[in-house]
Amino acid sequence: MTDPQIVLTERVQQALARAFGQEHADADPLIRPSQFADFQANVAMSLAKRLRRAPREVAEAIKTELSDFPGTIEVSGPGFLNITLDDSWIESEATRMLADPRLGVGTITPSQTVVIDYSAPNAAKEMHVGHLRTTIVGDSLARLHEHLGNTVIRQNHLGDWGTPFGMLIEHLLEIGEEAAVAQLEAGQGTEFYQAARAKFDSDDDFRQRARVRVTTLQSGDAETMRLWHVFMEATVRYFNKVYQLLGVTLTDADLAGESMYNPMLQKTCDDLEAAGTAVISDGALCVFPPGFTGSDDKPLPLIIRKSDGGYGYATTDMAAIRYRVHDLKAERILYVVGNEQALHFRMVFAAARLAGWLPDSVSAEHVQIGMMLGKDGRRFKTRSGESVKLMDLLQEAVDRATAAIADRGYDDATTKEIAHAVGMGAVKYADLSVSHDSEYVLDFDRMISFTGNTGPYMQYATARIRSIFRKAGMAPAEATGPIVLAAPAERALGLQLLGFGELVSQVTTESEPHRLCNFLFQTASLFSTFYDECPVTKEGVDPETRQHRLALCKLVLDVLEKGLDLLGVPVPERM
Ligand code: ARG
Repeated sequence: MTDPQIVLTERVQQALARAFGQEHADADPLIRPSQFADFQANVAMSLAKRLRRAPREVAEAIKTELSDFPGTIEVSGPGFLNITLDDSWIESEATRMLADPRLGVGTITPSQTVVIDYSAPNAAKEMHVGHLRTTIVGDSLARLHEHLGNTVIRQNHLGDWGTPFGMLIEHLLEIGEEAAVAQLEAGQGTEFYQAARAKFDSDDDFRQRARVRVTTLQSGDAETMRLWHVFMEATVRYFNKVYQLLGVTLTDADLAGESMYNPMLQKTCDDLEAAGTAVISDGALCVFPPGFTGSDDKPLPLIIRKSDGGYGYATTDMAAIRYRVHDLKAERILYVVGNEQALHFRMVFAAARLAGWLPDSVSAEHVQIGMMLGKDGRRFKTRSGESVKLMDLLQEAVDRATAAIADRGYDDATTKEIAHAVGMGAVKYADLSVSHDSEYVLDFDRMISFTGNTGPYMQYATARIRSIFRKAGMAPAEATGPIVLAAPAERALGLQLLGFGELVSQVTTESEPHRLCNFLFQTASLFSTFYDECPVTKEGVDPETRQHRLALCKLVLDVLEKGLDLLGVPVPERM
C-alpha cells in the first residue's frame, strides 16, 4: 500500500495500540492534509477526553511510539501531530509505482458480481439529454468496477414495451416499414412519436386500431411482434450510433429491456400474492412495504398489477430485481437512474427485501442522477421548448472543438480525430465532474474551455507531457526512473500521485466518479506548477536531473491517462 494517508492511518493505529492498549487499535487517527506539514493527525484530542489525560501528553506518547516512522513528527498547539514524510520514502514509493502496471491500484478480493443498470432510454421517444448522464456515469462505474477485478454485468433496461406501442405500430404501418425504419435509424424517434400521437388524439379510427393493436401485441400475435421487432431494431441501431460516438462500452449483449421480463410478470405477481407479500387493494395487486406513507398518512402501495389486470413499471422492476439476484447472481446492483425516481426504487428495494428476493448480502443502490439544466437554471430545452436531441448536442460539441483547434495547423483527418476526442471528452467530463446527484448546468462555453476542471484541460495536460517527450527525443516508456524529488513542486506532485490507487478504490465503492475528476484536476494543476518551476528539456538542465524529471512526467502521464480511461474520456496523443 502506497497511499500515504492509508500508511499513516495504519502506523498511527499501531502506535495507539502500543501506547494505550489494543482496544484503541481501531480508533480513527483523523489524518488530514495540513498546511504546516504533509499531514496532521488529530486523534490525540478526542482520545485525551476518553483517557482523561492532557491532549499534548497523549500526542507525545503517540509520537514516541512512531519513532521508526519514515518522517518527522511534531506536536503542536493543543495536541496536533504534524507529520512530514521523508523525501526518500516518497521517492522510493513513486519509483515503485512507476514500475507497477496497475499504478498502485489494487484488486478487490473476493471480487463481486456487480450488475449495473444504466443508460435505459425509452424507445417510444428519442433518446434525449437526460439519458446522456445515466449513460456516461454508468459507463464510468462499469469501467471502474472491471478495473478493480469485479465481474460487471451491464443491463440496459430499455423502455421498449407498453401501451404507446399500439399507436407506434399503427403509425409504422401507415407510413410504410421502409420509411419508418429510415426515420427511426436517423434519430427521428420523437417526430415519429409525435406524429403517431397527433393521429391518436384526432382520429377516432386510428385510436381504435391502436387500442386493438395493444391487445394483439400483448397476446404475442406473430405479425404484430414482427412489426414491434422492426420498430425496435431500427431504434436500437440509432442508440448504437450514439453509443459509438460517445465511446460507451454498451453492446447489444447488454440489452435487457422491459419486454424481456414479459414472460415473468404473471409469476412475479402470483408468487408475491401467494406469499402474502402482495395484497389486493381497490382491485389492484399491491405491496405495502413498511415505512412508506403518503401525504394522508396511509400506507403507500407499490402497484404491481393494476385493477384492469395490466402490469406496469413496478412489476417489471420487481421481476428484474429477482432475475438479477437469482439468475445473474448479483452481489451488488447499481441503478444509475434520474433522481426523480428515488421513491420508486426505495419502494422496489423494500418490497424485494420483504419478499426475500433481495437478501441482506446483496446491496441494491440507486445512483441518483441529477437533472440537466440550461444556463437559465431551468430544465434543459431548446428555444421552442422541446427537449434537446442528443445527436445535435454531441454534434455541437464536435463543431465547437473543431473551431477551438482550427488554428493548430493539423490536416483535415487529424483535425477531425482530435475534434471528436475533444468534443466527446468535453461532454463526458462535464457530466462526470459534478457529483452525480446534483443538478448540472449544461454550459458549452465552460465545458469546452481549455482551462479549469474540464475535459479539454485534462486532455491537454496529457498532450503536453507527450510533447515534452517528443522534445526530449524519447518515448515515455523509456523513462524508467528513479524518481528523485528535489524541488518543492516535484515533492508535492510525487506525494499527490501516491494517492491514486486508494482514491480509485474509494471512488468505486462510493460510486463517485466526480472525485476521480477532482483528483486528476489537482494532479494536472500540480503538474503545471512543476513544469513552470522545474525545466525538463531546456538547455542547461543537467542530464541526471532531466532523467529524474522525465520519470516524474511519465508517472503523471500514466496516472492521468489511466484516470481518464476509467472515466471513459478519450485521450488524443496531440492537441
Ligand atoms: N427507461 C427509464 C426512464 O427513462 C429508466 C429505466 C431505469 N431502470 C430501471 N430498472 N427502472 O426513465
